[in-house]
Amino acid sequence: MEYKNIKVVIKDSVGLITLNRPKALNALSPELMSELSHCVETLDSDSKIGCLVLTGSSKAFAAGADIKEMRGKSYMDVYKSDFITKDWEAVSRCRKPIIAAVAGYALGGGCELAMMCDFILAGESAKFGQPEINLGVIPGAGGTQRLPRFVGKSKAMEMVLLGQDRLMSATEAERSGLVSRVISDEKLIEEALRTAGKICKLSMPILMMAKESVKRAYEVNMVEGVRFERRLFHSTFSTQDKEEGMAAFVEKRPPNFKDK
Ligand code: CAA
Repeated sequence: MEYKNIKVVIKDSVGLITLNRPKALNALSPELMSELSHCVETLDSDSKIGCLVLTGSSKAFAAGADIKEMRGKSYMDVYKSDFITKDWEAVSRCRKPIIAAVAGYALGGGCELAMMCDFILAGESAKFGQPEINLGVIPGAGGTQRLPRFVGKSKAMEMVLLGQDRLMSATEAERSGLVSRVISDEKLIEEALRTAGKICKLSMPILMMAKESVKRAYEVNMVEGVRFERRLFHSTFSTQDKEEGMAAFVEKRPPNFKDK
């Protein structure tokens, strides 16, 4: 597939995807989302790739779903096509670790897309928000569900109800648990790639299990989640990488994981 709205660069074992619709502040048009979905699925199934990084420009990670494209759509159009579903779920379905590196605006669907990633590294200029209310709609790609889980009800409710008037800065996003770290804008991509590079050195099947287990915490109750974690933990003992990881510790050397 030829990409017109995203750029993909492979650096060592890291797939760096850059949203690239600068004239529309990376508004997430169906065409862009179709390319992104294809790209994430391709990298996810490529055995040479260990981690994905998703980023935008210095002005905008993404300013939301494409309003100009949505403007002419009716209820029947969006209901029958299940708008914001098929191509929007690839990131949350990705089994490999995927990091969002966010500078500038991450609004509406842009904020929701970043939250679908495993963690968010924010540049100092990052601004998060759910301004759908100003357009006479509500968030449609998980904003009302993921945001309260990350920042708590009060802040999420304020952001969803006040829209453009309640954006969240990078510093507040870190304080509130929405982003894992704030980095200077200049160093953001470098640091995201460095972090992804460290992840790539680890065992892929074990990373997948760890990721799946953390995601479960947001899907089931604590008792079920801990039971799920325990079973996955047990299953790690069937892997060669567990033998290698523990042997390397005892022998005081770096592990050499084989993804087996
Ligand atoms: N869709 C389509 N085009 C968009 C866009 C969007 N979400 N966001 C920005 N653009 C376009 C603008 O229309 C403008 O295009 P023109 O030059 O052709 O006029 C261009 O990008 C630059 O934008 P601005 O001139 O507005 O730039 P600014 O610096 O003055 O403002 C901004 C930046 C505050 C992000 C402003 O662009 C803005 O508010 N954008 C819309 C944000 C928004 O409401 N997002 C939610 C969308 S709905 C959604 O996402 C639903 C969902 O949950 C999935």
